[in-house]
Amino acid sequence: MDPLTRNTREWFQDWANEYDSTLGKLGRHHAMLDLVVRASGVRNNDRVLDIGCGTGLLSLRFLNASECTVTAIDSSAQMLALFREKIEKYHLSLHVQSYQMPAEEMGFPPREFDIIAATVSLHHVKEKEPVIRRIFDLLKEGGRFVLGEIDMDTTGSHDDPVRLARILKYLTSELELAMREGGVQAFERMYDNGKKHILNDGEYCIGFDRWAALCKDAGFAHVDIIPVNEYEWFKVLVARKQGQEG
Ligand SMILES: C[S@@+](CC[C@H](N)C(=O)[O-])C[C@H]1O[C@@H](n2cnc3c(N)ncnc32)[C@H](O)[C@@H]1O
Repeated sequence: MDPLTRNTREWFQDWANEYDSTLGKLGRHHAMLDLVVRASGVRNNDRVLDIGCGTGLLSLRFLNASECTVTAIDSSAQMLALFREKIEKYHLSLHVQSYQMPAEEMGFPPREFDIIAATVSLHHVKEKEPVIRRIFDLLKEGGRFVLGEIDMDTTGSHDDPVRLARILKYLTSELELAMREGGVQAFERMYDNGKKHILNDGEYCIGFDRWAALCKDAGFAHVDIIPVNEYEWFKVLVARKQGQEG
């Protein structure tokens, strides 16, 4: 595993215990998770893969919305440990399987899932193209990939002031929201993450035009992009794999 990936994993180990009381407190995060589940069209008996499940906020929503089964993966043992506590607490072990597995090494058979979802996890993956291609392979025909992400492009040179101004504009709204809804603890966490966005240190955001292009190149037939309510920096992408009916 390359050192950057290891650093990201250690950073999430550190964040895990505070996750639900920081990002997990923000209304815009819950609005995005709700939209991802709604846009997925999940139905009873669907098989769902949650990539970068964290403490399980998205997986639990899928399980609440339908009688589906969820496979949840994350590269952080600490995040998974917190999700596993919830699985036990809510007696969900028959409905969820969880694995410590990086998105870059997903070891499932092809055409295994009806829905593959990822919320604010795939921007941590530096080489996105092979992961999107793998997601395409892992979906059944007619399956959907649903991505909830920050709509921000942090590619480019670190010393480009125009790029910096764009990221700072996002951070201004994000930090204000964090302070208002999550207090000083959430603000501090998001403030630390902000520097990582600026330096591309474990945070590698791309805009939704780029996500859509990656999905089309991987073979997805239809790609839709939906804004998350009033939160201009967050969107949900739904990419459909063509079914037999066309
Ligand atoms: C911001 S959290 C999002 C958690 C959850 N999806 C949510 O929306 O609440 C990002 C998660 O992605 C995980 N992650 C980061 N890089 C990853 C990778 N390469 N493969 C799998 N998981 C990864 C982190 O450990 C962390 O749990």
